Amino acid sequence: MEIEVSKEVAPAYVAHVLPILQNAKFQQLGRYTHHFWTNRLMHSLNVSYLSWRMADLFGADASVAARAGLLHDFCLYDFHEKTPTGEHQAFYHPKVAAKNSKEVFQISEREWDAILSHMFPLGPLPRNKEAWIITVADKICALMEVCHIAIALARRNRVMFVSA
Ligand SMILES: [Fe+2]
Ligand SMILES: [Fe+2]
Repeated sequence: MEIEVSKEVAPAYVAHVLPILQNAKFQQLGRYTHHFWTNRLMHSLNVSYLSWRMADLFGADASVAARAGLLHDFCLYDFHEKTPTGEHQAFYHPKVAAKNSKEVFQISEREWDAILSHMFPLGPLPRNKEAWIITVADKICALMEVCHIAIALARRNRVMFVSA
């Protein structure tokens, strides 16, 4: 799959996330419906972009915010499935996302922490600035998605997924 990003999107942002976006395994997130009408790939991209913008505002690491934001839900299964540990999916899926991200993209410790705590207050306390940013950005995007309001990269033609 080709991912086309509009010229309106800052090249500095795209440079942080391009290696992840081009990964075929990561692109499989597009198969999973998320928050009723979007898919997990689009949701992840939006959380990433919003986190990148917020990192600039709050003096956080822009690369960590963009990458961990993109990887925070890197789970290739339906969230309606039962978890093997019996935990609620809200507590379980951040651990899977962190583990998958480490295996496929060799993430940093800060990125690991940010992914792991993105469901706060369900789960661990965010331990760094980028982790706080991602947990807030995730909630903003989720609320907008549930309300059917397109913001940031979800707006028309900002990002297009093209089958090869
Ligand atoms: Fe999540
Ligand atoms: Fe999310």
